[in-house]
Amino acid sequence: MTLLTWSHACSVGVRAMDDQHGILMEAINALRLALVRGAGQEKISELLDELIEFTRMHFWSEEQIMAQTGYAGLAEHRAEHHRILADILQSAHRLQYGEGVELRPLLCNLHHGFLNHIETMDQKYTPWLRQHGVC
Ligand SMILES: [Fe+2]
Ligand SMILES: [Fe+2]
Repeated sequence: MTLLTWSHACSVGVRAMDDQHGILMEAINALRLALVRGAGQEKISELLDELIEFTRMHFWSEEQIMAQTGYAGLAEHRAEHHRILADILQSAHRLQYGEGVELRPLLCNLHHGFLNHIETMDQKYTPWLRQHGVC
């Protein structure tokens, strides 16, 4: 199972957001390692809760910066954040209630979902934020 590694291609050019994206990737990696090491459901749920909490915080931070600078793509971006978070929450709920969630596909989806979001929607705000002095 591959771990997520930070690369220049993932940079959105805004230090605080890059740092938060790095932490998100570490949180996903922690879940992957727990899975490889055969951790029990309790540990996996705990790590998933941490990932959810951090994801909420990160999305909120990004939306605040976009709102403060009057970014035109905010509504679309926020809707995508909601969709991603709803997906993770649904999977976490199913996992916690023993509804047979397959963790490997879940982690694969998280991995691709986050990277795809960073490399498309997040990188779109870079020029705007830089123009508005956020770096
Ligand atoms: Fe982001
Ligand atoms: Fe985002």
